[in-house]
Amino acid sequence: MKRAKITVIGAGNVGATTAAWCAAQELGDVVLLDIPQTESMPAGKALDLLEATPILGTDVQVTGTTDYADTAGSDVVVITAGIPRKPGMSRDDLLSTNAKIMTSVCEQVKASSPEAVVIVVSNPLDAMVSQAAKILEFPKSRVLGQAGVLDTARYRTFIAQELGVSVEDVTAMLMGGHGDTMVPMPSCTAVGGVPVTQLIAKERLDEIVDRARKGGAEIVGLLKTGSAYYAPAAATTQMVEAIVKDKKRLIPCSAYCESEYGVGGYFVGVPCILGDGGVKKVIELDLNETEKAAFQKSVDAVKDLVSTMADLGV
Ligand code: NAI
Ligand code: 2OP
Repeated sequence: MKRAKITVIGAGNVGATTAAWCAAQELGDVVLLDIPQTESMPAGKALDLLEATPILGTDVQVTGTTDYADTAGSDVVVITAGIPRKPGMSRDDLLSTNAKIMTSVCEQVKASSPEAVVIVVSNPLDAMVSQAAKILEFPKSRVLGQAGVLDTARYRTFIAQELGVSVEDVTAMLMGGHGDTMVPMPSCTAVGGVPVTQLIAKERLDEIVDRARKGGAEIVGLLKTGSAYYAPAAATTQMVEAIVKDKKRLIPCSAYCESEYGVGGYFVGVPCILGDGGVKKVIELDLNETEKAAFQKSVDAVKDLVSTMADLGV
């Protein structure tokens, strides 16, 4: 069987770590690309990763490049190109710089890998997916963003710690944009099938939800020089796996919603079935009034960012 070709654009912290986990999980041949100014850095990281494969026992090729010709015909393209947050910065502060980067990256992805499924990781996430979709002009099912898998992983970690149970047994869903308005859904959170609301008191669960919402800033505050990358890369790798193995995972992705949830044509975090070809379906949950209001607030924040981006004329 032909191996998938996975291109990761941006060979920085999130990109290189995603490439490492895609190679470790033998998901396909990996191409790591960065800008020409980085010279041989992507080639160096790729060779280092390739030299790990005999130890990992995975038969994949890993190459590094600054030339889109080497990425031609990719099945999946992950975009991590852009600047990360520093202490005191919000994800939204990255808007102008990263929108320009996203535009130039997507023009080249469109030409080199016209059949790819594109996973955007750069921040501010939902606005960057929107920008990518505008430039790529691919079917909307082939353009999506990674945020919800990371945000739910943080939420699941904190719940597992609170209860002293395996992280494997905590399942959760989260909706809305990748920002402080994201909407963790206690009604869709369970531990070994038991609703979390039967295990953790509301006040304590609210504190955990709040920590998950601010999870990105917590890491930025600790690292001081950049933002999280291990968990973001693990989350992105799970999405790549769902696509290349056609796993049909039901996970939160930033996906295009038109009539869904009455969003009206924006990319926001919603439960999706993810498999070959990208988003196979957006799942519409029956939200209660509180959840609806919180989701709407989050969607409005995404709409504001997209409109600011349009005003900037990027
Ligand atoms: P980093 O600074 O370590 O790496 C970014 C890389 O992008 C650099 O190597 C840089 O040279 C490269 N780059 C810049 N312009 C480029 C272009 N035009 N073409 C190709 N490569 C280009 O940053 P890090 O930590 O890897 O974060 C990358 C992005 O991902 C940031 O915007 C960050 O905010 C975002 N992020 C998103 C998360 C999410 O859950 N959606 C989680 C973590 C980070
Ligand atoms: C995070 O949530 C910075 O968006 C990134 O860690």
